[in-house]
Formats: sequence, C-alpha cells, structure tokens
Amino acid sequence: MINLEASATIRAILIAIAVLLSGYESSASSWHYQDEEHWPQGCKEGKHQSPIALNARDATLIDFEPFSLNGYGESVTAVLKNNGHSAEIRPKMSGDKPSISGGGFNHTYKLDHLHFHWQSEHVIDRYRFPLELHLVHYAKEFGNLSAALQHPGGIAVLAVMFDLSPDDDAEFEPLVSIIDTLKDKVGQPVNLTNFVIKNFIPRNVAGYYRYDGSLTTPACNEGVIWTVFTNTIPISKEQVKVFDEMRTEDHKILKQNYRSLQSLNERKLYLKRSPLRDNFINSATTHSISVTLLYSLISFIVLY
Ligand SMILES: *[C@@H]1O[C@H](CO)[C@@H](O)[C@H](O)[C@H]1NC(C)=O
Ligand SMILES: *[C@@H]1O[C@H](CO)[C@@H](O)[C@H](O)[C@H]1NC(C)=O
Ligand SMILES: *[C@@H]1O[C@H](CO)[C@@H](O)[C@H](O)[C@H]1NC(C)=O
Repeated sequence: MINLEASATIRAILIAIAVLLSGYESSASSWHYQDEEHWPQGCKEGKHQSPIALNARDATLIDFEPFSLNGYGESVTAVLKNNGHSAEIRPKMSGDKPSISGGGFNHTYKLDHLHFHWQSEHVIDRYRFPLELHLVHYAKEFGNLSAALQHPGGIAVLAVMFDLSPDDDAEFEPLVSIIDTLKDKVGQPVNLTNFVIKNFIPRNVAGYYRYDGSLTTPACNEGVIWTVFTNTIPISKEQVKVFDEMRTEDHKILKQNYRSLQSLNERKLYLKRSPLRDNFINSATTHSISVTLLYSLISFIVLY
C-alpha cells in the first residue's frame, strides 16, 4: 500500500519535472514575432540593430563602384521550405555558389539562402512594402554562414522590395500551390527546379541604401552589411496573399513576420542613387520584369 503510494508520488514528481523541462526547452529555443520583449538580450540591447526606417533626408549620398554579380542567372535546383518563421529557398549548386562583389564591399560574398518577410521589414519614406526578400550572403574567406557571423562585415544581406502591381495574375498559381503545400509543414523541404535567382533581383541594382546592421531574427547578431535596393519588383495582391496562410511550428498563423523598426543611433545611413531615375525605370520595365518573374515561377516543378 505504502509502496504503491510512494511510486505514484514519484511518478507524479517525474511527470511534473518532465513538463517543466519541456516548457523550459520550448521557451528557450522558440521565439515569436508577437513578443519581441522576450527575444534574447542582444536583440534588445544592441545599438546596431535592423531593420530601420530609410529615407533620403537622413542619408549621406555616396558613390560606390558598380556591383559585380556572378552566377545568379543560372537555372538551378533549389529547396523550398517553411522554417517556421519564413519561406526559405536554398539553391543547390553543382559548382560555385553565386557571388557578389563591388558596390563598396571589401569582400566577395557568396549566397547562402533567400527568405521572405511579409510585410517588409525596412520601410522607405515611411512606406511598408507588402513583401521583402532577403538574399543572405557570407564573405567567401569564412567558408560558411555561421563562421562568417563571428566577424564584423562577414555577412551581407541584399534586400529586395516587392510593390503592389494593379494586375492580378491568375497565372501566378504555380508559386501559390507550392507555398500552399508547405504552409502547415514546418521543416519539410520541397524540391524546385529551374529556379533563377536573378529573377528575384531588380534589373537595375545601381540605386540602394547601405548601412551597418544586424540579423533581424534572434540572436540579432550585429556586423551585417545591409543593401536595400531602391528599385522594386511588382507583385499582385493575390500573389502576396499566399504568404498569409503560412503557419508556425505550433500551427499558429504566421500572419506577418517583420521585426519592429530599430533606432539608427550613431550609425551612418548611405544612399547610392541610381544614375537613372528609379520611378521612371520602374514604370518602363514593370511589364517585362513581371513577365520574366511569371515565367520563372511557372517553370518551377514540384518533385515529391
Ligand atoms: C571597407 O573598408 C573601408 C576601409 O577600411 C571602410 O571604411 C569601409 O567601411 C569598409 N566597407 C564595408 C562595407 O565594410
Ligand atoms: C563552418 O566553418 C567553420 C570554420 O571553417 C567550421 O569549423 C564549421 O564546422 C563550419 N560549419 C558548417 C556548418 O559547415
Ligand atoms: C530532393 O532532391 C534530393 C536530391 O537532390 C533527393 O535526395 C530528395 O529525395 C528529393 N526530395 C523530395 C521530397 O523529392
């Protein structure tokens, strides 16, 4: 009798410990956009954090040499997945990874992966775009992303804003269906073929904001060089809506995944103006860019 009671008590204690440990583990490893106050200390105390508000009035004009982009135009296989915080695309290269140099960089940077934020994290002239793409790069000499994170200037992120276009393309369905299959499957990869990274970078990359910031997700590591292009890529309201259905690991709707704006503090914001007027370029090339984007998306093949 006594033995039975004692073992029941021990079992209850063990269960309580297990519950406490699992609760502790999940709160230590997971984070949410709804409670930035619970993000790690470095995110809250850093003075060089991202994203920030961008506008020409606060910026110092600067003239960097043109970018040199290598390998972004290839049609490659890529792996798309819902990582619980974003839709992430990892190109699988047989040879060298795409790389970028010039544009005021002191290193050659290799592409690690791409991911989306909806709505945009950076705002330009107080405007929050419906979608922002981050192309995350690491300095070649460090060999990989985690090693490069340990060095100031080791990581360079190229940010591309998508702006709403009046056209509601029904033919955008291929991307819709891919994201749709992934929306509730955190961590499950889907293979994409014929992925052309260049179609997700504005044709004119001569205009951009440049500043020294951080990762916009925990642990918010600083020393990240940001380049936010001033030219945008058009996207329709319907197309953006696909992202609204994405879910987190705990099956909650990932309605939006942008971090709040951080203070510029003592940092300098630079603006490299395109020699061509941005808006003029946009309206002239909107159609051809959207057609290219559409074709690239249609050519995605989902392999199960
Ligand atoms: C490149 O190096 C120069 C000279 O040391 C420095 O002023 C500049 O900030 C560096 N640029 C970047 C993007 O790190
Ligand atoms: C990244 O590079 C460092 C230094 O070369 C190495 O120790 C580490 O294992 C690499 N990490 C990955 C994930 O490849
Ligand atoms: C994706 O491609 C890799 C080979 O590159 C293969 O091993 C894997 O099984 C594929 N995944 C799916 C879900 O088809």
